[in-house]
Amino acid sequence: MKLYTLKVTDIRQETQDSVTILFKQPGLKRIKYIAGQYLSLIFRINGRRYVRPYSFSSAPGVDETLNITVKRVPAGIVSNHIFDKLKIEDVLEVIEPMGDFVLPANTQTSDKHIYLWGAGSGITPLISIAKDALYGNKATSITLAYGNRDYENIIFSTVIEDLNKRFAGIFFPYHFITKPFVDIDNPNVVQGRITEKEIRDLLNGSQGNLKNTIHFICGPVGLKESIKSTLNELGVENSNIFSEDFEVIRNPKDFEDIITQNVLIKRGGESKTVEVTFGKSILEAGLDALMELSYSCQTGNCLVCKARIIKGDVRMIGVEKLPELLESDECLLCSSFPVSDNVEISIEY
Ligand SMILES: Cc1cc2nc3c(=O)[nH]c(=O)nc-3n(C[C@H](O)[C@H](O)[C@H](O)COP(=O)(O)OP(=O)(O)OC[C@H]3O[C@@H](n4cnc5c(N)ncnc54)[C@H](O)[C@@H]3O)c2cc1C
Ligand code: FES
Repeated sequence: MKLYTLKVTDIRQETQDSVTILFKQPGLKRIKYIAGQYLSLIFRINGRRYVRPYSFSSAPGVDETLNITVKRVPAGIVSNHIFDKLKIEDVLEVIEPMGDFVLPANTQTSDKHIYLWGAGSGITPLISIAKDALYGNKATSITLAYGNRDYENIIFSTVIEDLNKRFAGIFFPYHFITKPFVDIDNPNVVQGRITEKEIRDLLNGSQGNLKNTIHFICGPVGLKESIKSTLNELGVENSNIFSEDFEVIRNPKDFEDIITQNVLIKRGGESKTVEVTFGKSILEAGLDALMELSYSCQTGNCLVCKARIIKGDVRMIGVEKLPELLESDECLLCSSFPVSDNVEISIEY
């Protein structure tokens, strides 16, 4: 896992509660990334180390700077720190780009229709993919269905408008606005949510040739589920559907038999018994105990928090991808919860 330091060259207010941070590409060690990937920012706040992934909103080969766009989360530690404390010229430590929410590497996409489905801050990786595919001639057409509460708070509304003009006949953006409105002078605005009917209507744009479509979804769980199930009903294969989650919503039922337990965590020469209170992951408990544990996504995707279970029983909850890449005695600490009282974990990676 490579670490870099990046300097903030600009901070742009996108909407009331979202900002884009522009970083200068390092002169020598330039950072390579793929549209749709994310950068993990490292902060030290009140003596504790925090890592948070943010999808690139820039696209390689299109934007000079490395851009991320952050939405303020109520009571969120890092997003509020970025809003209230980060300044131009600040230098941040970051973890190399990661993530598989990208155009498939071994598939020719230039004859495909790409559909981008998103809501709110979920637009960030989608705009990166849109710019990359449009400027790089990587698709026949690109449809963007983007949901927001109101028209005034659409992130990247100007960028989307510019792409619409520049790539007329190839790029088809639609804004779905849930708050009732009157008099918006934009033919691409639709009143309401992205419903099953709207999904089906938009897919008619591919003239029924759904085999030639690729779909990227980034937004709340409900949106992802409804788009996926409609696409599946219409015969789109899962191999052509990609999704990115900014946070994991776990099912409370999975926690029914979990109670507060002590867990022994061994890392290098350090060894600490931490109390994993009900609902917290072993990773969170270790970080709260000020252990320097490696992590990034906290959604069970990046494998950075992989650890070996030496003793006891651990349950992984909410991990959708990659468990097959783990050995039977391995777990991802960000998604692991102790289910016995003698758990011992060793971090060797
Ligand atoms: C792969 C990936 C890419 C991401 N890309 C972006 C991005 O481009 N832009 C962006 O703004 N965020 C993005 N995120 C989310 C980001 O990493 C942080 O989780 C988010 O900024 C909240 O961090 P925090 O420290 O402010 O909140 P925390 O202090 O960690 O959490 C505070 C509370 O907010 C809830 N919460 C956590 N994350 C979210 C969220 N995303 N939305 C609503 N509530 C939340 C938590 O459940 C908790 O209750 C991404 C996450 C992942 C996994
Ligand atoms: S932090 Fe990414 S899988 Fe755990």
